[in-house]
Amino acid sequence: MPSPLPILDALQRYQDRKTTRFHMPGHKGGREAGSAIRELLGEKPFLADVTNVPGMDDLHQPGGIIQAAQELAAQTFGADHSYFLINGSSCGLMALMMACCAPGEEVLVPRNIHRSILSGIILNGACPVFYRPAYDLDICIPLAVTPAAISRALKAHPQARAVFLVNPTYNGIVSDLPAIAEVVHGRGIPLVVDEAHGPHLGFHEQYPLRSLEGGADAVVQGTHKLLTAFTQASMLHLKGERVNRDRLEQSLKVLQSTSTSYLLLASLDAARGEMAERGWELLERTRVMAQYLRNELDSLPGVFVFDEGWVKERGAAGLDPAKVTVTVKELGLTGLWAESWLREKYDLQVEMSDLFNLLLIVTAGNTRADIDRLVQGLKEMAAVESPPEPPPVLRAVLERACQPPSLPLVCTPREAFFHPAVPVPLEQAVGRVAAETIASYPPGIPLLCPGERITREVVEFIALGRDLGLHFQGQQDPAASCLRVLV
Ligand SMILES: Cc1ncc(COP(=O)(O)O)c(C=O)c1O
Repeated sequence: MPSPLPILDALQRYQDRKTTRFHMPGHKGGREAGSAIRELLGEKPFLADVTNVPGMDDLHQPGGIIQAAQELAAQTFGADHSYFLINGSSCGLMALMMACCAPGEEVLVPRNIHRSILSGIILNGACPVFYRPAYDLDICIPLAVTPAAISRALKAHPQARAVFLVNPTYNGIVSDLPAIAEVVHGRGIPLVVDEAHGPHLGFHEQYPLRSLEGGADAVVQGTHKLLTAFTQASMLHLKGERVNRDRLEQSLKVLQSTSTSYLLLASLDAARGEMAERGWELLERTRVMAQYLRNELDSLPGVFVFDEGWVKERGAAGLDPAKVTVTVKELGLTGLWAESWLREKYDLQVEMSDLFNLLLIVTAGNTRADIDRLVQGLKEMAAVESPPEPPPVLRAVLERACQPPSLPLVCTPREAFFHPAVPVPLEQAVGRVAAETIASYPPGIPLLCPGERITREVVEFIALGRDLGLHFQGQQDPAASCLRVLV
């Protein structure tokens, strides 16, 4: 029997009744939406775009179809309680930060956090204690976090109220969750996992362990990232009692919009239904396609694709087969250049590029023809007679280890955020205290957090990224020529 879809069914019922709409939104089921957008989308999305009319529910006080859909999600994803998020995974991470720590309390966070965790720290006024994941200096990506690193950080900061972890990383690298959970729970505090890149885990035995099964107390999953929900639709799952559920629910009420999009909710319901019904099958198809891609690229001179063995040698517990990182360093190219070459010549769009790598996300939505086209494009790119001369800035990177530097935290990110600040030219920011976040996006990992003392090294790092064409987010000056610092 197919899995029930409470939200989709309710929307269908509402549509079937052909109710005359004297309620929001103003397009009234798309009757008055403008021809351009109707031509692009058709009328269906408008018909389903309703508010909390009778027959729907209230995300902030669910007691009907949203409650039913969330309960099904909890069953499907192995949680005690699940919450639908319509403001992205960012919103769930901020809510968890507010639920776990009060102003001035310490929280352990990895330095490769997504900037939304930092936003949560600005909101709750906690004092972040950064620990570092291992880092591969050859291809410049963060690796796994070891239980020993967490244990050391907790010994140095026994008052910490929670440990946050990113698992899997953007590149699909997974840490040893059970061992980390044991260390964290040994202190009686919760382990919160940013599983934005792992909503598909737990449905297939050849994929890494789902974080909740590995002992996490709370996880946030980007259902829109690797499953099929619409962009911005995510889920938060809770297990056990270590996270204060009342405070979490209050925090979600603070952070989520009151104008809930039923398009987003329906897409969460549908994504969950798909996984409950066909999760293994979809992931098997994905795994086979991704493995075919890896096999094809293995024989390509100058191109490196790391596998599970490679990450395990570097301390990780596993690798998500759906993420394929293609390193083009040996071809004398930057990932950024390779990304634009593939786009211009082959009309292929990768998920992300950085200094040396392209990141590809494979899902069951791809076809074998997609993979063949990508392989063909990469083969042609690798054979380009005269690749561009590496820019001087890239040579500078190659000559030194290029791990984002560690910076001393002078005050809490919240204190820095609310302190009077002025913009100064990047080069003159050395020695000052940052008032803003600056993160290259994607992946959204902050190079600089509010409250950190700015060093020459980080200024050079930002300038390097800027000159290489990385896109920065978080700072006031879009060109990243100026940084806002405390006065
Ligand atoms: C690791 C990680 N966590 C959280 C987020 C935030 O997710 P969202 O864009 O759904 O708010 C992202 C987004 O890229 C991410 O990569």
